[in-house]
Amino acid sequence: MKKNSIEVRNLSFRYQKEDVLPTLDQVEFHVKQGEWLSIVGHNGSGKSTLVRLLNGLLEADQGQVLIDDQVLTPENIWEKRQEMGIVFQNPDNQFVGATVEDDVAFALENNQVSPENMRLRVEEALKTVNMWEFRDREPARLSGGQKQRVAVAGVLALQPKILILDEVTSMLDPEGRKELMETIAAIRRQQDITVLSVTHDLEEVSLSDRVLVMKKGRVESIQTPNELFQRPDLEDVGLDLPFTRQLLELLDLDVSSYLSEEELQDYLWELQFPK
Ligand SMILES: Nc1ncnc2c1ncn2[C@@H]1O[C@H](COP(=O)(O)OP(=O)(O)OP(=O)(O)O)[C@@H](O)[C@H]1O
Ligand SMILES: [Mg+2]
Repeated sequence: MKKNSIEVRNLSFRYQKEDVLPTLDQVEFHVKQGEWLSIVGHNGSGKSTLVRLLNGLLEADQGQVLIDDQVLTPENIWEKRQEMGIVFQNPDNQFVGATVEDDVAFALENNQVSPENMRLRVEEALKTVNMWEFRDREPARLSGGQKQRVAVAGVLALQPKILILDEVTSMLDPEGRKELMETIAAIRRQQDITVLSVTHDLEEVSLSDRVLVMKKGRVESIQTPNELFQRPDLEDVGLDLPFTRQLLELLDLDVSSYLSEEELQDYLWELQFPK
C-alpha cells in the first residue's frame, strides 16, 4: 500500500471574515505517492485557493494539510516547500534569468547546490522537457509552450517529490498542450513523482489517475477519468464533452470507455475493416 503524499483534512478557508460563504468548505482528499490527481471545476470554485493552501501561501481557518504524513505548520512550511514544485498559469511572471539555462539554475542557487551538481541538474531538467537546445535563449522570447516547459524544468531541477500544476496548459494551443502533458507523463514514468494538476483540459484529465471535481468550494466527487467522462452532466462540472464522445454520439456508436483521438481512429478503422 502506497503512502499518502498529500492529505487534506476538513479544510475550510475564507478570504474575508465577513464572507458569508467560505471559499473552501470542508475539503477532504488524498493523493498517493506517485499518483496523478486532476482537479477540475468551474471558474471561482476554489481550485487555485486550494493550491495556495497546500503550499502554505494561505493559511486555513480550519482543517489540515499533510505532506508526506506530516501536518503542515508555520515551522515546517519552508522545509516542506522544498518537496513541492509549483507551476502557475502565466509563465511570464516566473522568469528571472537572462537565459533559459540561468533561469533554471537560479532556483538552485538559493538551495545551496554545488556548481558542478547544479550544471548537471539544469542540463537534465532542460533535456527532460526538450528545451536543452534553447538553453542560451532569452526566456521572454520563447513561445508560450516553450516558456511553460522551461518553468516546469525550473521546478524539476529542484527534484521535488510533488509537482503541482495550476492550469499550466490553459494558454497553449492544442499542440503545445499535448507536448507539455506528454512531457509530464514521461516524467512520471521516469520518476516516482506525485502530480496534482488543476485543469480544464480533457486530454490532460484523461492522462491522470483520478479526478476531483470542485464545486463552490466543496469536493463534489472524486472519480476515475473514465467514470467522469461517462457523466451526462459534464458541462455542469465545467468540462466540455470530449471530442471523441461527441463524434461517437453523432455516429450513434455506444462505447463505454473514454477513447483518445488515436484510439477512436483505430476503433473506427477496425469497425470499417475488421481483421
Ligand atoms: N485574493 C483574493 N481575495 C478575495 N477573494 C479571492 C481572492 N482570490 C480568489 N478569490 C475568490 O475566491 C473564489 C475562488 O477563487 P479561485 O481563484 O480559487 O478559483 P479557481 O477555481 O482557481 O478559478 P479559475 O478556474 O478561474 O482559476 C472566487 O470567488 C474568487 O473571486
Ligand atoms: Mg485558478
